[in-house]
Amino acid sequence: VTTKSMANGLQYVEVDTELCQARIFLQGAQIDQFQPKGQSPLLWVSAADDYQVGNGIRGGIPICWPWFGQSEIADFPQHGFARTRTWSLSSVNMQNQLAIITLSLPINHADKQYWPHDTQLKVVFELGTRLKVSLVNTNNADYPVQLTQALHTYFPTSDIHNTQVDGLAGSQYIEFGQGPFKQPHNQVAFTKETDRVYTNLQPQQIISTPEGNIIVNRDNSHSAVLWNPWIAKSQRLSRFNDNDYLSMLCLEAANVLDDKVLLQPGDSHTLITEIFWQDEVN
Ligand code: BG6
Repeated sequence: VTTKSMANGLQYVEVDTELCQARIFLQGAQIDQFQPKGQSPLLWVSAADDYQVGNGIRGGIPICWPWFGQSEIADFPQHGFARTRTWSLSSVNMQNQLAIITLSLPINHADKQYWPHDTQLKVVFELGTRLKVSLVNTNNADYPVQLTQALHTYFPTSDIHNTQVDGLAGSQYIEFGQGPFKQPHNQVAFTKETDRVYTNLQPQQIISTPEGNIIVNRDNSHSAVLWNPWIAKSQRLSRFNDNDYLSMLCLEAANVLDDKVLLQPGDSHTLITEIFWQDEVN
């Protein structure tokens, strides 16, 4: 595990162990590469991204915090501010073959306009043959604090037309401000722009792609976002090629809508996602 810098000053932690190869930027605490040894990459990143200071990376796992989507206040940034701030590297440990990397977000004076509350946010990456991400919020204030959040994970596929997500039975979703709709099948395929916030969702989804099945587990999360921008929105997105929608999808472990986090004074909440290839070799 080594810490390095790009020419523009962006710092990252590079992980190369017997089990995996990974890269985590201090900006946004954003992991943009994770590949178990002998397997395909588990995270997608756009070839159009040029890794600028101040921009979230278009891929990997942006951390949306302390709100997901648009803020109720008009000019506050979409998906919060944590994804573009520089986090502190708190610790790097090896436990057997597992690399465990913890970062925390210092709230600077300017960001108090967005988040005046005395809370602590850290993220723990456990990197082995699986990737486990734990986002830990602690409320040090003497009053309850409420927030929404998501681990905005970009997954790869070689063909979105041949990709589906299973494990949706029993859930509801809201899409483009409409709903809630009852999810009619256990699975969805992609044939158009998809931008759904699912609630009451089972803790495991399976993404089947031509490369194999990706298992996505969530803990302390009953909601998730499923997103593919499709043709028209791809042309409007920053740091995204027009045909990138063919090779990615986002399934985002979340705490949104009626699953938002309400932290009592002194309490902690840990949002967890764990992702891995179902077959050991693919
Ligand atoms: C998704 C939202 O989670 O993030 C989409 O549901 C949004 O509506 C997408 O377009 C990307 O957002 P951004 O801010 O990273 O371009």
